[in-house]
Amino acid sequence: VYPDSEQASVAVAQDIAGLIRQRAAEGRSCILGLATGSTPTRLYEELVRLHQQEGLSFQNVITFNLDEYFPMAPDSLQSYVRFMHEYLFDHVDIPVANVHIPDGTVPVEEVAGFCRRYEEQIREAGGIDLQILGIGRTGHIGFNEPGSGAASRTRLITLDHITRTDAASDFYGEENVPRRAITMGVGTILEAHEIVLLAWGEGKAAVIKRMVEGDMTDSVPATYLQKHPNVRVVLDEAAGAELT
Ligand code: F6R
Repeated sequence: VYPDSEQASVAVAQDIAGLIRQRAAEGRSCILGLATGSTPTRLYEELVRLHQQEGLSFQNVITFNLDEYFPMAPDSLQSYVRFMHEYLFDHVDIPVANVHIPDGTVPVEEVAGFCRRYEEQIREAGGIDLQILGIGRTGHIGFNEPGSGAASRTRLITLDHITRTDAASDFYGEENVPRRAITMGVGTILEAHEIVLLAWGEGKAAVIKRMVEGDMTDSVPATYLQKHPNVRVVLDEAAGAELT
């Protein structure tokens, strides 16, 4: 628990930079799993600063994003493709071919095949070294809403009503929020070698308490992180306020 999200974000950026540099020194790629949303924006800003001012190179970085709305055109204001370019990719030297984000334009009958290939690409890259996560008020990680099991894989899901309410302002009204999304599964996420989950603010305090102290259950998919041997939960004081 950090005094505020600023200090927490800077500390996590340092950890990521350390991992990228360590892998580069070994002549290896660094495979990062990335999240969107309001939580990691300061983290990405700090990674950009480390690139621009401290010479951190992303040449050896390969990324896989957790999720994308479906359907979603990549140039839409609300697309996670646009989000990632705006906050990170357009400002660092990551090779374009190293970026992977679920494709919200795939015809619906081809989504299952797309999801299988996404999983294969993660495996072929050598698996995710470090997965960054946020958490939704429903207990979702990625877009694994309540009901998602521990063995779930990358797939098309239906978004929870609460998640669509939370996204309503981004879409100028809940009726404009897509009903579905493509997301890595809980099982996919649990295969990452290391996981760092971030949460800020009092609005996340209740779900953080359930995730950390509650029983593992499909109704709060984030509780399955309790099974992972190398997960760190990074909070500001408000998000950690209900922990005993
Ligand atoms: C985003 C994602 C989601 C968000 C979660 C929290 O790629 O996978 O699980 O991390 O909905 O969103 P914010 O950070 O906007 O509160």
